[in-house]
Amino acid sequence: MPVRILNLVALISGRGSNLQSIIERINEGRLDAKIAAVISDREQAYGLVRARAAGIAGLVIRPEVYARKAEYENELAQAVANYNPDLVILAGFMRILGGQFVQQFHGRLVNIHPSLLPNYKGLNTHQRVLDAGDKTHGATVHFVTAQLDAGPTIIQAQVAVDAHDDAATLRQKVLREEHKIYPRAIQWIAEGKVNFAHLIKTPAA
Ligand code: GRF
Repeated sequence: MPVRILNLVALISGRGSNLQSIIERINEGRLDAKIAAVISDREQAYGLVRARAAGIAGLVIRPEVYARKAEYENELAQAVANYNPDLVILAGFMRILGGQFVQQFHGRLVNIHPSLLPNYKGLNTHQRVLDAGDKTHGATVHFVTAQLDAGPTIIQAQVAVDAHDDAATLRQKVLREEHKIYPRAIQWIAEGKVNFAHLIKTPAA
């Protein structure tokens, strides 16, 4: 299948280091994508600074302005759809998107989560891994479905949990891997190596 240039919209809430890794892979010519816009739910998100530095349109849509979650998500969906994205990438977007948004971008919505899903859905994954005494930890890139952190996995990376690790050192280790696997997953999608339908197909008997 011919490689196509994927048109991306990124949703962020904060630091944007995953966004940065994707920008860098694109600039290096190693990722067949372009980022049409970065949309944040927080004005102070540092990822917006990164977007501006890369010449990418940055928008803020603040949930507080809307009386209901559905209204906010409707506005967000319209803003995203305006860019006609092939893929919407959640890159540290700290909100749980409702069913309607997920449905509208079904098969075109991906997320990165700092754990080896299905383990440790939700927040505080690094501390929870330490508390459980696990010897391995990692990150997962997956398609987003209506169930939190439960959509089909595209790629995972593992790290070892060492005796001296705390939540901060684990976060750093996992983040380093996130920065490799998120661009790789997007490139696989650009190359047609992976799509939502492939992943949910039951294996042939
Ligand atoms: C990452 O740990 C990612 O897995 C999670 O949120 C964090 C975002 O970090 N979804 P950054 O904003 O990309 O630096």
